[in-house]
Amino acid sequence: MNSKIIEKLQWRYATKKFDSNKKLSEAQVNILKEAFNLTATSYGLQPLKMLVIGDQEIKETLVPASMNQAQVKDASHLLVFCIESTISSEYIKAHFNRVEATRNTDREILNDYEDFLIDSFSKKDQDEIRNWMTKQAYLAMGNLLTVCAVEGIDACPMEGFEPEKYDELLQLKEKGLRSVLVMPVGYRAEDDMFAGMKKVRRGVEEVVISI
Ligand SMILES: Cc1cc2nc3c(=O)[nH]c(=O)nc-3n(C[C@H](O)[C@H](O)[C@H](O)COP(=O)(O)O)c2cc1C
Repeated sequence: MNSKIIEKLQWRYATKKFDSNKKLSEAQVNILKEAFNLTATSYGLQPLKMLVIGDQEIKETLVPASMNQAQVKDASHLLVFCIESTISSEYIKAHFNRVEATRNTDREILNDYEDFLIDSFSKKDQDEIRNWMTKQAYLAMGNLLTVCAVEGIDACPMEGFEPEKYDELLQLKEKGLRSVLVMPVGYRAEDDMFAGMKKVRRGVEEVVISI
């Protein structure tokens, strides 16, 4: 298939060994921040925050809490995807304040939708809200994986870490956050043997049903 984006998606891989001497520029990091903020989320509520860790010492303290995966310290930056500790009615109101201010929309037009969201979130239990927020975090990571591929930035999506330890080490509870995913980003090491491996996939005809 002759497509630039497919070529880029073939180029990317879950990078196991980063070149610790190569750092992303501030402009590249800014692209990742903007792309994170532009991720689509359910109701547009963005129940997420992303930590961007460039500090070497901090990255190193996180390795034991990451199943000793060295990507965490060798990558240029470590992205930590976090969910909010909960969604309160104040949080939902703040979203509608932004809609009103950004689009100059009459609040009356927004009221029914706002009330509906406040009511529906008040009926959900904490686990349900957390599951919902975590899904949004996966979407953000997926978005950034593609953005990285397009920008020629190497990345490794990671679930293999201990969220409670991250939360403690990064003092996330104090910030009203919980870590759910991490993604080291930077440049692949020349000798990362995974870089040259063929992609293992089930095959388009097997995973897509056209009707
Ligand atoms: C949600 C998620 C969690 C993952 N966790 C890890 C991880 O902790 N460590 C790791 O080395 N790779 C991890 N991977 C990488 C996958 O193993 C990899 O994406 C998959 O084998 C497909 O290979 P490719 O990304 O190189 O095409 C994860 C991928 C995803 C999407």
